[in-house]
Amino acid sequence: MKKTTLFSIAIIAAIFLTSCNNQTTTKAGITKVAWGTTDGKEVFLFTLTNAKGVQVKISNYGATVTSWVSPDINNKASGIVLGFDSLSGYLAKPPYFGAVVGRYGNRIAKGKFKIDTAQYTLATNNGSNALHGGLKGFDKQVWDATPASDSTASLLLSYISKDGEEGYPGNLKVTVLYTLTDDNELKIEYNATTDKATVLNLTNHSYFNLTGDVNNTILDHTLMIDADNYTPVDTTLIPTGEIKSVKGTPFDFTKAKKIGQEIAAVSGGGYDHNWVLNKKDSSLQKIVELKDAISGRTLEVFTTQPGVQFYTGNFLDGTISISDGKKINQHAALCLETQHFPDSPNEPKFPTTLLLPGQQFHSVTVYKLSLK
Ligand code: BGC
Repeated sequence: MKKTTLFSIAIIAAIFLTSCNNQTTTKAGITKVAWGTTDGKEVFLFTLTNAKGVQVKISNYGATVTSWVSPDINNKASGIVLGFDSLSGYLAKPPYFGAVVGRYGNRIAKGKFKIDTAQYTLATNNGSNALHGGLKGFDKQVWDATPASDSTASLLLSYISKDGEEGYPGNLKVTVLYTLTDDNELKIEYNATTDKATVLNLTNHSYFNLTGDVNNTILDHTLMIDADNYTPVDTTLIPTGEIKSVKGTPFDFTKAKKIGQEIAAVSGGGYDHNWVLNKKDSSLQKIVELKDAISGRTLEVFTTQPGVQFYTGNFLDGTISISDGKKINQHAALCLETQHFPDSPNEPKFPTTLLLPGQQFHSVTVYKLSLK
């Protein structure tokens, strides 16, 4: 057979194999597979791989981190975030596993707020309050997604939230840029602009279990949060408006301690509160260190944001199973949602979440994994 014929056969075979598993290799360290459709839009799963072989998977459904696989101290790789390996898991509306939440992460009391004299009423979806953007927040939207760099594993997702969506004013253009670095950092950069005054609070809702096995709870992880104060809440988890010292309370994580040490003294099944970070400006600073002795994994969190919602998976109750069939029980995983404070639009003393036309919203959060 002629060389050119052989070459053509090889090309056709390669195209055939690629289309069989629907996989396309895109830019640096990123592959893309078709993952289904919803709302008449195509959903994809992107795999970001760094030089160390660590992999993070992200879907454009909800700009969701579906998996983060890394080695433990014995070089055994396992997943450290909750997720599903098919779109159907997400369409069943799990509690925001790995998603970007918005337009307003966490709660707005009674789903109401004012900007100047204009009163806005949001969709309420958590008792009488609005939670994580409403009935169909950013976590349930199909975003546009495109690999963003020739040299790093970066994925850019964008979404336009229309004026009036879930009751929020203004057409909001939002982008989220995920980068997996060779230092095992997952860097998340958020940008947004609006054409009308609105409120905004964007975060990522990944649930971590550093042991790599959700049959272990996170109660033996040790945690440090660089915050002398937190925002106490009422029985519906709306801040009372007070900024309270953590000193002498179960909320004191200024020195690393086991999460389970005082959790029984916290009402509501565990921690689900916003910590007021000690950092004084909006520069990127380390705010959290989470450690698991079994796996040897450490997760450090850096952010430009003023707060972090530390949530110990209190409402997880064994009714959801993840990809490997394991049931997700209470305290099987925890969230460290870097953010502005809950209900800020109704609390003039909290840092503002107002975004005006002409302003550029920008925030950065980095989750850094290491073995220590
Ligand atoms: C909230 C919890 C909520 C969870 C899942 C957290 O950010 O603070 O109250 O149950 O998200 O929706």
